[in-house]
Amino acid sequence: MSGAGELARQLCGWFGANARELPWRMAAPGERDPYQVLVSELMLQQTQVSRVVERFRVFVARFPTFAALAAADEGEVMALWAGLGYYRRARLLHAAAKAVVGRHGGEMPREMAAIGDLPGVGRYTAGAIASIGLGRAEALVDGNVSRVLLRLEGKALASDDPAAVAFAWERAGELVRAAANPGAFNEALMELGATVCTPTAPKCGECPWREACVARREGTMGEIPRPKTRVARTSLRFECVVLRDAKGRVLLEQRPVGGLWGGLWQPPSVEMVGTRKPAAGELLAKLGLPEVALAQAGVVRRTLTHRNVVMRVWVGAAGGKMEGRAWFEVGALPAMSSAHVAVLARAEAEVGD
Ligand code: ADE
Repeated sequence: MSGAGELARQLCGWFGANARELPWRMAAPGERDPYQVLVSELMLQQTQVSRVVERFRVFVARFPTFAALAAADEGEVMALWAGLGYYRRARLLHAAAKAVVGRHGGEMPREMAAIGDLPGVGRYTAGAIASIGLGRAEALVDGNVSRVLLRLEGKALASDDPAAVAFAWERAGELVRAAANPGAFNEALMELGATVCTPTAPKCGECPWREACVARREGTMGEIPRPKTRVARTSLRFECVVLRDAKGRVLLEQRPVGGLWGGLWQPPSVEMVGTRKPAAGELLAKLGLPEVALAQAGVVRRTLTHRNVVMRVWVGAAGGKMEGRAWFEVGALPAMSSAHVAVLARAEAEVGD
C-alpha cells in the first residue's frame, strides 16, 4: 500500500491539472473566505453543482459577509435560495450568520468546537470550513469521499454502515494530515469522487490512485460501496386549490414552520388520509374557502427522500380578503417548494388550455 504522503501528493497533483472552475474556487483552497465556504458547502448538500453555480454568485453578491446575511430579512434569504430546495438549510445558514456575528464578532472562529456549534454545521461542514477556509488539517467525509476511500482499500461495505463511516473518517484524517495543503486535498478527494470515481462506470484509467486502488486490482468497483438498506417510502396525498383573482394574482398560505416544507408557501391545501377523493364543495368547506366553481387540473407527483407525494390540483376564481392567506403576483412569489411551483404550473396549463 502506498504511504499517505505519496497518495496525498498524487491526488493533489491530479487536482491541480483537473479541478473544475467553480465560482467558489476563485481563491486557493486554504485561503478562501470561510463565509463563502459555508455558503457553498450548504448549497452543495443534496443539490447538483450546476444548479448551485448561479445561485451562489447571486447570493454572495447580495450578502457578501456574515454581517450582511445576519442583517437580512428572512424572506429575502429564502427567495434567493429558491430552486435549491431543502429550505431548512437556508434558515440554518441565516441562523449561523447571526451566531457568527453575535458570538464571534462577525469572524468565523478557528476552534473546531466553536465551528461545529454553529447552526447547520455538522461534522462534514466543520471539516470543510476548517480545511478549505482556514487551511487546517481537518478531515471531511461526504458520499463521494466515502466511496473513493472504500474502493481504495477494497472494503465492501454500505456507506451508511457504521463500520464504513468510522473507517472513512479515520482514513480521511490520516490522509489529510499527510497533505501539504489540507484544503486542496479535501477538495481534490471530493472532486475525484464527483468526476472520476463515480458510482457507476468509474474512469479508472484517469485516476491518480489507479495503482494503489484495491477495488481496481480486484475488479470490485461495481460492488463497492454495497447498496444501502432501503427505507420504505410512505405516501402522502394532498388536494391543492389554486385560486386566481381578477388581477391574475394567486392565493397562498404559509405552511407551519416545523415538518415537511416548513415555513414555505403553498396554494391552500389539505392532506387526505386514505384514498377517498373529496368533491369540490367538501374540499372548499374543509379549507374555509368561499363556495366557488372548481375544475380539476390533473396531478403533480414528487418523490422525496422518504415519501411519495401525490398532489391533486384544482383551479378556480375568487377574490377579496381571506383570513390567514394572501394574494401574490405570479412574478413575485414568496419561497415555495419546487413541488408547489409545479402545482401552480399545472393549474396555469389547465387555465390556458
Ligand atoms: N462537493 C461539495 N463541496 C465540494 C467542493 N468544495 N469541491 C468538490 N466537490 C464538492
